[in-house]
Amino acid sequence: MRNYINKLQADGELRTVDVEVDPQYELAAVTKKAQLQSDDAVFFKQVKGTAFPVVTNLFSSRRRLCELIQAEDGNFCPAWNKILDETASMSVDCTRRTNAPADLVSGKLSDLPLITYHGKDAGPYFTSAIYLAKDPDTKIPNLSFHRSMYVSDDELRIRLGTSHDLAKYQQKAEKKNAALEAALLIGVSPALFLAASTSIPTHWSELALASRIAGETIETYRARTIDLEIPLAAQIVIEGRILANERRLEGPFGEFLGYYVPAAENHVFEITSVYWRKDAVFHSILCGSSEDLTLLETVTAAKMYRHLNNVLPGIVDVSCSPVLMNTIIKIRQQYEGHARQALMAAFGADLDFNKAVFVVDDDVDITNMNEVIWAFLTRGRADKRTIVIHDVPGFYRDPHKDHWGRLGIDATMPFGREAEFERKLIPGETDLNLDDYFK
Ligand SMILES: Cc1cc2nc3c(=O)[nH]c(=O)nc-3n(C[C@H](O)[C@H](O)[C@H](O)COP(=O)(O)O)c2cc1C
Repeated sequence: MRNYINKLQADGELRTVDVEVDPQYELAAVTKKAQLQSDDAVFFKQVKGTAFPVVTNLFSSRRRLCELIQAEDGNFCPAWNKILDETASMSVDCTRRTNAPADLVSGKLSDLPLITYHGKDAGPYFTSAIYLAKDPDTKIPNLSFHRSMYVSDDELRIRLGTSHDLAKYQQKAEKKNAALEAALLIGVSPALFLAASTSIPTHWSELALASRIAGETIETYRARTIDLEIPLAAQIVIEGRILANERRLEGPFGEFLGYYVPAAENHVFEITSVYWRKDAVFHSILCGSSEDLTLLETVTAAKMYRHLNNVLPGIVDVSCSPVLMNTIIKIRQQYEGHARQALMAAFGADLDFNKAVFVVDDDVDITNMNEVIWAFLTRGRADKRTIVIHDVPGFYRDPHKDHWGRLGIDATMPFGREAEFERKLIPGETDLNLDDYFK
């Protein structure tokens, strides 16, 4: 991560905050406003109450994500799926054990930046925490994000999404009345970060995926108090175990849909060791911000793209902006009814998130919802181009069924009438430089 920060700085994509900021609200507020101005990463040199500098907004830019996986043409979906295909055939044993780094410093949780993000959050949260844990049966390692609430130097509380691998491992351990050992990694290499963001079959290793993204073997060293191999690249490591048969109040917390999730009885992570690399940098992610959502949207879109391409011709690209609950499919129309078939296929491609699905022609910018809606409004009738499916469950965490049902919108132009919908263009418009006129 430090190499990546240096690269962004050299490329002029890192803004530095020299004044001291308060970890309660101020750091989050500066992050939010800075993100409205640009995708640049933000480096806070001084944060009140801690010696650690804090970096944020490292992974908010779609272009930077493409660069990280060598998708030079800016098409994330096919490049990402190629990486996943290659990971499938890789050995799960893709790591090389080495000695622990000589510069490790021991400490306690409260030495780290304790950042409180929103007005009604229950307390400080570690939002960039990647949990490393092993399947208790197969011993295959997994990486996954789970924000964690700071309670004391001995305890964090975590909300485990039921569909996530960590929850499944914890359930397996709990059946045997055993705690699940895990390590939180904060401040990892881009390859580990990207590998953690995605869900892959449990018999593939996410460390193998990270190794494929990085193009090199992942070097690890033995954890201090648990049976795990820690990636050398992790800046900060928190070792511990998720207790069996123990739930305590966690939350409320302002999360990715823009609302507070209420407090609930959730899992307890008991800390056994905390240490970091000398001069470590702490990574903060503002939940629901572009750094949180862009990556999650992009890997979800790649999953949809793979499924759609398997069953239909003419699928050009997929996006899940502006929020994960939305899917926009770009097609090159091949026959009448093609767009409706794309809608039907999309409904089955992800059971959690595609609450609304739009299909557009390949001249529409699928990262711009204004263009998508404009295409629907200008390219055909409303009644024949919408599909509503009632009473289908959606997002797994939905006690009031607010995410049930599906909406499909065909925003493509009528098949065979492309000439009537040619977009008007002023000759010379594209290359014109306005500065030549307003001097
Ligand atoms: C930057 C980022 C932060 C995330 N934070 C959380 C989180 O706090 N809690 C959660 O349940 N999921 C979170 N997710 C979603 C999933 O946990 C994540 O994609 C997960 O790593 C899936 O891995 P798994 O299928 O291997 O369990 C986050 C995803 C990203 C990309």
